[in-house]
Amino acid sequence: ASEAGDHDLVIIGGGVAGYVAAIKAGQEGLKTACIEKRGTLGGTCLNVGCIPSKSLLNNSHLYHQILHDTKKRGIEVGDVKLNLTQMMKAKDTSVEGLTKGVEFLLKKNGVDYLKGAGSFVDANTIKVALNDGGEQTLRAKNIIIATGSEATGFPGLEIDEKRIITSTGALALTEVPKKMTVIGGGIIGLEMASVWSRLGAEVTVVEFLGQIGGPGMDAEIAKQAQKILGKQGIKFKTSTKVVSGDASGATVALNIEAAKGGKEEVLDSDVVLVAIGRRPYTEGLNLEQVGIEKDDRGRLVIDQEYRTKLPHVRVVGDCTFGPMLAHKAEEEAVAAIEYIKTGYGHVNYAAIPSVMYTHPEVAWVGQNEAEIKASGVKYRVGTFPFSANSRAKTNLDTDGVVKFIADAETDRILGVHIIGPGAGEMIAEATLAIEYGASSEDIARTCHAHPTLSEAFKEAAMATYSKPIHF
Ligand code: FAD
Ligand code: NAI
Repeated sequence: ASEAGDHDLVIIGGGVAGYVAAIKAGQEGLKTACIEKRGTLGGTCLNVGCIPSKSLLNNSHLYHQILHDTKKRGIEVGDVKLNLTQMMKAKDTSVEGLTKGVEFLLKKNGVDYLKGAGSFVDANTIKVALNDGGEQTLRAKNIIIATGSEATGFPGLEIDEKRIITSTGALALTEVPKKMTVIGGGIIGLEMASVWSRLGAEVTVVEFLGQIGGPGMDAEIAKQAQKILGKQGIKFKTSTKVVSGDASGATVALNIEAAKGGKEEVLDSDVVLVAIGRRPYTEGLNLEQVGIEKDDRGRLVIDQEYRTKLPHVRVVGDCTFGPMLAHKAEEEAVAAIEYIKTGYGHVNYAAIPSVMYTHPEVAWVGQNEAEIKASGVKYRVGTFPFSANSRAKTNLDTDGVVKFIADAETDRILGVHIIGPGAGEMIAEATLAIEYGASSEDIARTCHAHPTLSEAFKEAAMATYSKPIHF
């Protein structure tokens, strides 16, 4: 084993959390190494998550629109054909460009990038089992663990990524399945259901709860989402649980029943996507050796400054507390480096947006109505439908609504929930508003360009304390 020189910081994991920490550390003049075993940088997000899923969502939407939504717009198209191989290639090109871009950024910022698996030897020593064979040992003043998460499996269904798949398999199918069942109606389930349903699969989503959308989505918005996605052809079985599955036949048979119990029913499909959540991934780190703790859900335990029991070892991203989102991981990575460098850092967990990239998109920030109700705070709701927005009408794309929730006494914005075209971009304004402690009147008195979808945002704010103009 070769000895490298000492580092100010060694980062284990080159996902969004790890690579952003590495760039920031490089910028701050820390001698930094980043260890990643995947062979490419960017982690789940760039390789098998955010980026490839958005490529397939965008292109499958275009395909679906060309097939079903051109005539009324005065566009007559001829023979429309799906070339799945090319669609996958376009996705791979985006992924490759971005992961290489990250590698370039690490180099530019003077970060040593080691391809291999890192593990603790002692509190300040990390061993790297290099992908190309051999070992390297690094000594570090500071260590950041950013090893991310993995899909949670379903007991009794063995993942082969061909017939029984996680999101990773769903991003790489080589043909469109005739029938596809999705276990779990959270964000992954709904995004992937959208892709494959648009490309021609008959998709059924089985969700244990009475509502789709996963944790956080406002109930009213989730209801609308289910209705709109239902109109697009996705079938839903909510308040339903999968009891067991059998993949030994020509199709995969799932036994399902009502969540509260009842008669079993068999659901046959060619492909089953397991999308029931993700869990922290910390295997092989040898954490026991140094006494770093996990909670009962496998999350690495940290304090407010991201420190484990060992104050020089910090944890950021999916393998610790909080929502499993790339932009949350990125904020934590920057804050962790600031803590190391200056002793001060900051992430506002009350202002982290969520976006589901279906069509229409669903986006929210802050608390949902059920959470606010439970907190006992008196609140007011203002809504504005896209069907009354001039731009949405011009675009013939009017499904959805903007919903504001503000404190009844102070008018401070507590939550914003949007389903509609461009919701994912629009939520940035709501996030900024919450970050600045804005009131709904602050938004409503801000001039918004006409004709834009963002006028629906302004008018929902107006509806919160007064009346909207156009509805
Ligand atoms: P990861 O991205 O998982 O990175 C951890 C890295 O550490 C991995 O590359 C792994 O190989 C490496 N590693 C682990 N152990 C070791 C070791 N011992 N040595 C060396 N390397 C190691 N989030 C969004 O915000 N927006 C989205 O649109 C979105 N879409 C998603 C779609 C899908 C299908 C999935 C699965 C997730 C999506 N996410 C999205 C979530 C997002 O991908 C994660 O929140 C994000 O990747 C977390 O970053 P991370 O760096 O903490 O972990
Ligand atoms: P999730 O936690 O969002 O949703 C899982 C869903 O499965 C829940 O609705 C849950 O009730 C349901 N479920 C759980 N067990 C079940 C069972 N046995 N039978 C039927 N339903 C069951 O998890 P998901 O969708 O797997 O996503 C994981 C993480 O990835 C999320 O935390 C999300 O933050 C992140 N992600 C983010 C995206 C984005 O920001 N656009 C896109 C994709 C993933």
